[in-house]
Amino acid sequence: MRHFLAGIALAALVLAAPIAQAGGPIVIKFSHVVAENTPKGQAANKFKELVEQRLAGKVKVEVFPNSQLYGDNKVLEAMLLGDVHIAAPSLSKFSKFTKKLQIFDLPFLFKDIHAVDRFQKSPDGKKLLASMKKKGLLGLGYLHNGTKQLSASRPLRLPAEAKGLKFRIQSSDVLAAQFEAIHALPLKKPFSEVFTLLQTKAIDGQENTWSNIYSKKFFEVQEYITESNHGVIDYLIITSVEFWTELPDDIRGEVQKAMDEAVAFGNKVALDKAVADRKKILDSGRSKILELTAQERDAWVKAMKPVWKKFEKQIGKDLIEAAAKSNG
Ligand code: SIN
Repeated sequence: MRHFLAGIALAALVLAAPIAQAGGPIVIKFSHVVAENTPKGQAANKFKELVEQRLAGKVKVEVFPNSQLYGDNKVLEAMLLGDVHIAAPSLSKFSKFTKKLQIFDLPFLFKDIHAVDRFQKSPDGKKLLASMKKKGLLGLGYLHNGTKQLSASRPLRLPAEAKGLKFRIQSSDVLAAQFEAIHALPLKKPFSEVFTLLQTKAIDGQENTWSNIYSKKFFEVQEYITESNHGVIDYLIITSVEFWTELPDDIRGEVQKAMDEAVAFGNKVALDKAVADRKKILDSGRSKILELTAQERDAWVKAMKPVWKKFEKQIGKDLIEAAAKSNG
C-alpha cells in the first residue's frame, strides 16, 4: 500500500495539470456520487454558484454528480493525479489514507447529528482535517448527510434476524466488523451499484441515510427500513495539498469562504431532508418503516458496540472518548 501511494504521489508531481490555462480561468472540477437533490448535491451546486459569482472570469467550477466522473473508489487517486480538484466522499471511504477517520463509522457512537457536529467543530475534530496531509490530501471541512437506517428485504427488529443476510457496505473495515458482529455478510460495493444489487436480489439489504434511500430509490426495492440511527454518513470535503497550495492566496481565501458557506447551506438541507425524505418514503407505501422499542434498540447496541474495542488501537482511545463526550 505504501508503495502504491508513493507511486501516486510521484505521478502527481510529474503529471499534475497546471491549474490555469494561459489567460483562461482556473477550472475546479468537483466530483461526487450522489444525486443533485441531496445535501451534498445541493452544497456542490451552491459552491459553484458562489465561486462563479464572486470570482467571475477568474475561476470556473465544473460539478460532476452521480459518479459521472469518478466513483468514490477512484476519486482520491484521480485527485492526487490532478484530474479532479474537489470531492466529498463519505468519511467511511478514507481508510487507505488514514485510520483515524474510521471513528465516524463506530456504531452507536454519536447520539444524533448534532453530536457529530459538535465533535467535528471541536479541536480534535478539526485536527482530523489535516490527518492525510502527508499523503497529499487536505480536508477543507465536513458536510452532513445524516444518520443511517438499515433497509432489508425482511423485517429486522432484532439483530438476530439479520443473521446470514448479505448487506452492501461502503469500503470500511469498521462497517464490515459491524455486520459481522450480527452474523450478517458485508459486501464492499460502490454506491453506484447499490440499486441494481438490491433490485436483482444479489444482496438483501444496505445501510444509508433517508436522503440517499429516497434519491436513489432504494425504498422501491426494499420492503423494510429499520429506523435504527445506528451510525452516520457525513462527508469530508477534500482537495489535494498541491492544488490548494498552488492557488493564488486571494483566490484560495475566496474559494474557502465559498466552501464554508456552501457547507452551511448543505447542512441545513441535510437536516430538512432527514425529515422530508423519510416522510416521502412513508407516504409512498413502498417500504414499511419499523420503529424500534427501547428494548429492541438496546439489543442492536449490545450486539454492535463491541466493534469499538476492535478498532480502539487504530483510531485511538482518547479520540473515541473525546467523540463520545460530544453527546453532552
Ligand atoms: C454518499 O452519500 O456519498 C454515498 C454513501 C454510500 O456510499 O453509501
